[in-house]
Amino acid sequence: MASTPPPRTFHVKSFGCQMNVYDGERMAELLTAQGMTAADERGDADLVVLNTCHIREKATEKVYSDIGRLRRDDGTSPLIAVAGCVAQAEGEEIMVRAPSVKVVVGPQAYHRLPEMVAQAAAGTRSTETDMPAEAKFAALPRRRKSGPSAFLTVQEGCDKFCTYCVVPYTRGAEISRPFADLVDEAQALVEGGAREITLLGQNVNAWAGEDARGRKVGLAELAEELAKFPELARIRYTTSHPADMTDALIEAHGSNPKLMPFLHLPVQSGNDRVLKAMNRSHTADSYLRLLERVRAVRPDIAISGDFIVGFPGETEAEFGDTLRIIDAVGYALAFSFKYSPRPGTPAATMGGHVPAEVMDERLQRLQAALNRDQLAFNHRSVGRRCSVLVERRGKREGQWLGKSPWLQSVHFIGEAAVGDLVTVDLIEAGPNSLAGTLVSA
Ligand code: 5AD
Ligand code: SF4
Repeated sequence: MASTPPPRTFHVKSFGCQMNVYDGERMAELLTAQGMTAADERGDADLVVLNTCHIREKATEKVYSDIGRLRRDDGTSPLIAVAGCVAQAEGEEIMVRAPSVKVVVGPQAYHRLPEMVAQAAAGTRSTETDMPAEAKFAALPRRRKSGPSAFLTVQEGCDKFCTYCVVPYTRGAEISRPFADLVDEAQALVEGGAREITLLGQNVNAWAGEDARGRKVGLAELAEELAKFPELARIRYTTSHPADMTDALIEAHGSNPKLMPFLHLPVQSGNDRVLKAMNRSHTADSYLRLLERVRAVRPDIAISGDFIVGFPGETEAEFGDTLRIIDAVGYALAFSFKYSPRPGTPAATMGGHVPAEVMDERLQRLQAALNRDQLAFNHRSVGRRCSVLVERRGKREGQWLGKSPWLQSVHFIGEAAVGDLVTVDLIEAGPNSLAGTLVSA
């Protein structure tokens, strides 16, 4: 491979979950620390990092078509690095099939990106998909500027092995970052302008650490410690597993005023046979009882979920149980997917394939129920007075957009600035947002 001048501009494009968004930000910071600058249009950048997602179908094809689209009119391409979970799972094949890709780097190794990019510019392609626990974070630069709402990865990987899911293979075993490192990173984010921090992890509520006094602590205590930063107004966390919803974390929703009244707690299915085949450790009933306990502590909490339709062998009656649990919970927000066989996962070789048209039809009914409940939740919010964290300007003159404590998008007109926490009366609800009037800045 011929050498090229070292890249001076870069663009990081992230797909998939919030953890990828976080990783994308950290890669951008890493490249900036090397003296490179971010380019807005990825066609102009000398280096393009595709930070990929492998959770569902067509992930790999999408990466190849993105690589193809990066080819410029004169036939040249920027230096392309493929990062994220597709890199982890299919990196070697990408190297063979896509000669324009010069760097393949997995989610646990991206601290090595600058060095690999330099090698690529000098003519050597390289792949790094090792999973050394924790080496990455120590090698990343300190966080500096932040928007009002920031992500902080506290935990990575997953030991749950739900039978449909590729994450335990692409992200590796569960690791928790140390308490002190997280407090330090949160402080840097707050100093950089963050007013809200969302703690991230594939299994965020499995986070475990030791505080300064050597006490064993969990997410509740971490949130309590972060709540001590006066400028930090809001703390969120995602994604949680029902099995790791501890008493302490439930109670924190009653005692920590900065912990927002929102819980993303995927159930996946409402049928116990399907849940067992998925290797989820809860039943429909144990999930509902768990939510009762959360709501006893924080009655206004917004519940959010993930659903899969058409898991191998799912019958119409079993799907009906999923509709029933949706009715019982009343989700404020939800994400729903058609089952997609992931290579190497146990479910991929299970019998009982559900035909595509059946999956489509079930997904439609599921989403109709979820949309109905989301709208109902928004309608119930009308008349409430709440805080809104202002995130950006709206399309209309003098309009601002932000989030309510329940993670709803709220727009209002008046004097404000990005990063302000304002008080708003919610006056009108739509399916995806609410209108409010400004009470005070
Ligand atoms: N097929 C469909 N949906 C999946 N999810 C994870 N793996 C699959 C799969 N193989 C969904 C789950 C999970 C969310 C992040 O993605 O609902 O909670
Ligand atoms: Fe995947 Fe299950 Fe782990 Fe979530 S808990 S990341 S769905 S294996």
